[in-house]
Amino acid sequence: MKNREWFIPVGFVMILSVFCVELHSADMDWQGLPEGVGREEVFYTCQACHSLSLVKQQALNRQTWDRLLDWMVTEKNMPVPSLKTRTILLDYLTSHYGPKLGGSINGMPPISTIRP
Ligand code: HEC
Repeated sequence: MKNREWFIPVGFVMILSVFCVELHSADMDWQGLPEGVGREEVFYTCQACHSLSLVKQQALNRQTWDRLLDWMVTEKNMPVPSLKTRTILLDYLTSHYGPKLGGSINGMPPISTIRP
């Protein structure tokens, strides 16, 4: 029984480290990006230069996202992503920030507002 005292400081450190990990992940809110494959890539690639609200307010189809990536590279000096990264970025952006009814598509007003 007596020899179990070592467990007190060890247990304390273990609980403390779990607590720190929890704190850290709560800190990490990904600027509101929804969870999913590609979130990390989009976060670290795009947030390097600007707020992700620029990204989140879009509702673009895949082709337009593709052209936007080109634009970031040619006009804004974004490092050219590898083909693999590009696919991951496009998959994420299109599935979470793709065109949606009632949203803004390529800067056009939502369909609901132009219908009679
Ligand atoms: C090397 C810098 C850089 C990187 C990396 C970058 N951007 Fe940009 N982006 C810019 C600049 C500069 C602007 C111009 C807006 C501004 O003033 O901040 C911009 C603007 C935008 C806009 C707004 C376009 C509009 O209609 O005004 C979108 C959307 C965008 N970026 C998406 C992205 C996405 C998605 C990524 C990641 C895949 C990305 N950007 C990565 C520099 C960058």
